[in-house]
Order: sequence, then structure tokens, then C-alpha cells
Amino acid sequence: MDKFIIHGGAALAGTVRVSGSKNAALPILMASILNGSTSVIKNAPDVWDVDTTLRLLRQLGAQAERGEDGAIRIDTEELNHLEAPYDLVKTMRASVLTLGPLLARFNQAKVSLPGGCAIGARPVDQHLKGMSELGAEIVLAHGYIKARAPRRLRGARIVFDTPTVGGTENVLMAAVLARGITVLQNCAREPEVCDLANALNAMGAKISGIGTTDLIIEGVDELKPLDWSIIPDRIEAGTLIAAAAVTGGDVTLEDCRPEMLTAMVKKVSEMGVLIEETPKGVRVRRPGALKANSLTTGPYPGFPTDMQAQLMALMTVAEGQSTATETIFENRFMHVGELQRMGADIRLEGKTAVVRGVPKLQGASVMATDLRASACLVLAGLVAEDSTEISRIYHLDRGYERLEEKLRDLGAAVERIKE
Ligand code: EPZ
Repeated sequence: MDKFIIHGGAALAGTVRVSGSKNAALPILMASILNGSTSVIKNAPDVWDVDTTLRLLRQLGAQAERGEDGAIRIDTEELNHLEAPYDLVKTMRASVLTLGPLLARFNQAKVSLPGGCAIGARPVDQHLKGMSELGAEIVLAHGYIKARAPRRLRGARIVFDTPTVGGTENVLMAAVLARGITVLQNCAREPEVCDLANALNAMGAKISGIGTTDLIIEGVDELKPLDWSIIPDRIEAGTLIAAAAVTGGDVTLEDCRPEMLTAMVKKVSEMGVLIEETPKGVRVRRPGALKANSLTTGPYPGFPTDMQAQLMALMTVAEGQSTATETIFENRFMHVGELQRMGADIRLEGKTAVVRGVPKLQGASVMATDLRASACLVLAGLVAEDSTEISRIYHLDRGYERLEEKLRDLGAAVERIKE
């Protein structure tokens, strides 16, 4: 297992390009199942979760490769194995997004139940409710979801109990080939959900209401080949903004779409960071001290849970008392114990972390526990005195493309030790 050694202290400076969005790429790759033809997907980040998705598609019988130009080509004409097995689903929960497309195209699917995860229980009841209402018969047995639609799926009106990103994506992918009209209400409207919906429309689906909580889908009989470029990763952009901010640097982000980052930009600006759009990209500077602030995570356009840990790294060295309240996942504070080992002053009160800024963090050996917690520890390492060793960096490799190289190009002292 690789680890990072970071020598903190350098103010980051320069220009960095934001990669394509992992959380948009995964469902769009799964959507290639629907057209039974060839899809070309550009700007998908070169990260482990994308590799796992390609492996999964190949297991189903697809041909899926990344070319030298970086584009991924997938041919799903001859899928012959309609099962997402436990060994892949357990390494990547998003594998459950094969359920909707397989069911829509083949009227059957067998997908391993994902089970719990480090950041929370993460049930899939809303995915299953949606599929049932579209006419699928669902049986849960031996750790698997077995779904069958005796006839083709048919349109329905479905109200999600909670806005769920994966649930909205899965049911949307099922509904595009269903007979008749489907109305999905209380949908998640994260930019990644919108990118999927726009990609499905580019394949010939008829989805309206994109970007709102209500999606209306007129089912079609078949879909066309797809040629799509994935949106930039707003969470990677946010993480790089936080890196510039925490180190007091001056960094310009290319391929950054600040309109997808409004809640995050607002919080960081209130903390004393200057963020401006320039002809070269989004420039991030921090001229003075970081000031305390408070955030509460929520569904988009609220503050993203995927940025909570990174903002907490900023809070640990900001002047005054900050709070971070997590409302999406029940166990997303695993970075707290590690930050405390680096000298952070944090007290947990239920869903809220109360953070009192300290003048300096100290380097220490810490352990990454999930993707965004790992990013938080990298940020802490960038400002800590002496060196920080972060083990279990594979969590980071699941979702950040060459993060250490990008940070090194900006002047950070980050080294990967291969083990
Ligand atoms: C997506 O997960 C992202 N993953 C997560 O990113 C992100 O944190 C999350 O959305 C929230 O924005 C991908 O896109 C691959 P949800 P997802 O369904 O779809 C509850 C990262 O670090 N819920 O929107 O699994 C659930 O427990 C990751 O990149 C149900 O109750 O999240 C949670 O409390 C981690 N029943 C809330 O809804 C369901 O059937 C939101 O979860 C589904 C969800």
C-alpha cells in the first residue's frame, strides 16, 4: 500500500488543470449499457474507480478500453453476463448503477447488494423502490438483488423519500427505455446527475426538467451511440482551491466551473480567500489570515458533503471557532481523530464538529480512511510543521487523478512511497 510523505510549509503557486468528474464519469460509463452500440467518453479521469467500472463492463461482456488519446471506447452490443458480482461491488458501491441500465435493456439483472461503507450505512432502498414502481419484480437473496421485468418496464410517477444522487441516476437510466412517461420527483440535482441526463439526451433519450427536482422522461424504444465529454470535477476543483487557501498560495485553476461550486466558493471567500474568474481560469489567493466559519452539508445546491473534510482542514488553522455539521452521511468524521493527532483542536458534538483554530499543525503519521478524508489529511500535511506520513493512499487513488503530481507542480513537497 502506497503512502505519501509531505513536508509542509510551501505556499502553492502556479496553474493547474482540473480533471474530469469521477462521479459524473461512473454513471455515464454505466449508461453505455443502454445503447447496445459504441460510446466514446472523453475527459473521464484516470482513477481507480473508472478502472473498476471498465472491469465491470468487461465482465458483463462489453469491450471497454481507454485509448492513447485518453478517450474511453465502449462497445456494449454483445453483453452476455447480466450480473454485477460481489467482488466488484464490494470495492466500488457505484457498481449498483448497473441495475437500471441492465433492467431497462434486458428486462433482468442480478447485482450484489453493496452493504455498508466506511462513511455510513448507505442503503439502496430508493433505487429498489424506483425499479419496483417501473414494474420490476425484485427479490433480495443471498446478498444479491435479483430484478426481473416480466414485460418491458413501464413509466410511473415516483417520489423519492430523500434526494439521492445514485438513486436518481439509477432510476433515470431505467426510465429512459421504459414504455410511456415517467415522472421522478424529489430528485437529486447535483451537476453529475445533470451531466448524466444530458448524456442520455445526447443518446436520444427524452428527459426534461434537468437541473430541477422533477424529471420527466418520455420512454424511447432504443438509444443511439454516444460521444460525450465529462464535466470537470467540482470536488477536485474545490480540493485544489482549499490547497491554495490553506497554504496562503496563489493558484489558477483551468477547466474549473465555479457556477457548480457556489456554496463552497462562498464559504472559502468568507474565510478570507480571494477567488476571481480571469481569462486564464479561476484564480485563488489568500492575502491575510484564514478566518473561522461554519458550514452545514446538504444536497446540491447546498454545501457538498464531499468537501466537508477538506474545509475542516482549513478550519483547523483559521482564527477563531468554526463548526462543520454533517447531515448526509452518519459517519463522515473519521478525519477528525487523525487531525487531532496533528495537533488540531476539534470537539465532536453529535453531527457537529467544533473546531478551534490553532496557530500550527504538527506533522505526524496518519491514516487515510476514505477518499475525501484522505484529501483532508493531504491539506493538513501541506501546512503542518515538519513531515506528515499518510498511509493507505489507495483511498485517494480511487478518485483523484495524479493529485501528488499536481501539487508538486504547484511547489508542494509531496512524495509517494511505493510499498
Ligand atoms: C453520491 O453517493 C456520490 N458518489 C458520493 O461521493 C457523494 O458523497 C454522495 O452522492 C452525496 O453527494 C457517487 O456519485 C459515485 P446519495 P450516493 O444516494 O449516490 C441516503 C465521494 O467521495 N439514501 O445521494 O451513494 C444515503 O444514505 C463519494 O466521491 C437512502 O437513504 O449518495 C445518504 O444519507 C462518497 N436510500 C443520502 O441518501 C437510498 O436508496 C444521500 O446519498 C439512497 C440513499
